[in-house]
Amino acid sequence: MKTISVEILRTWLEEGRSVTVLDVRPADQRAEWTIPGSVHIDAYRALNEHDPHALDAVDVVDDVPVVTVCAAGRTSQLAAGQLTARGVPALSLEGGMKAWSLAWNTAEVPLEDRSVRVIQVRRTGKGCLSYLIGAGEEAFVIDASLDPHLYLDLARSRGWQITSVFDTHIHADHLSRSRQLAERSGARLFLPDQQRVSFAFTAMRNGDTLATERLMLTAVRTPGHTPESTCYLLNNALLFTGDTLFPTSIGRPDLHANAQEARARSLLLYHSLHKLLALPSETLVLPGHASQPVPFDDKPIGARLSEIDEQIGLLHATQTVFVETLLKRLPPTPPNYERIITLNEAGLVPEGDVTELEAGANRCAIS
Ligand SMILES: [Fe+2]
Repeated sequence: MKTISVEILRTWLEEGRSVTVLDVRPADQRAEWTIPGSVHIDAYRALNEHDPHALDAVDVVDDVPVVTVCAAGRTSQLAAGQLTARGVPALSLEGGMKAWSLAWNTAEVPLEDRSVRVIQVRRTGKGCLSYLIGAGEEAFVIDASLDPHLYLDLARSRGWQITSVFDTHIHADHLSRSRQLAERSGARLFLPDQQRVSFAFTAMRNGDTLATERLMLTAVRTPGHTPESTCYLLNNALLFTGDTLFPTSIGRPDLHANAQEARARSLLLYHSLHKLLALPSETLVLPGHASQPVPFDDKPIGARLSEIDEQIGLLHATQTVFVETLLKRLPPTPPNYERIITLNEAGLVPEGDVTELEAGANRCAIS
């Protein structure tokens, strides 16, 4: 049976190669998260019952390879087998959507100041967004969510040395790779000031600034999503908001919190969001997550504060309405979030396969 790795499929999609990605999972799994641009046939049951007509309804384009996808890479082998028997060049995605959790792509944020470059590094499946910010020979990384070697390679290929690594908050939906990246690169690790983590870091308090020749990063404390949540303002123009503010939604206040704490955090979030809205309206917000799988389209995810202000009605609600509405709209909690928080507080990324632990789509936002 022919298979294809996540890394090769990722590269094909990034290069824009012709490929049909055929998702054969049940519809409810498909609804959870997908590979951007994939087509779907709910053939899971038929394939496992060895129905020879399971994929009869699939239209294939001559000579365009088909990559079959399921949850873990087993049923997709049956699908690839059936297509191959029809003379279609078919490959099964190794490890399925579970392995796809680590697939990534990049998009560069267009900036007027050409001496500064900002690369959005996206975990396409989970929607985690991290940032590589380079100028001269130095680079900063914010919210690393992928293997450190990837950021090191991206920086090296642009002639940058990673000197500072930041997290916006203690994450609940994915393992932070910032501590590991700082160790591997020799960079300093900056975290919002808090007593949650049990490893060494440099604390960023409200207004703290880190400046190099061309980069000036200032911490803007914005508690709410978590008590320590902090946004970073770059060169007074770009705002890295973590999970506090997204282009069309706001951060949830309830993870790792009881009902009373969630209410208190909602109120903090109200004030934090209004603190951000007081920044110049042309400030470009670059969030920590996407709500949908991230396409391979080179288009950075972000929006001007003025656009967000127009887009999110809740930002104009009174304090009371804001809190009550937020608490009513809480989405289901992400899988394994308590365990992920514990590992992030310890600064640990377990050896081996962590995709099971990080499984599923992102659920950090309320829209
Ligand atoms: Fe978060």
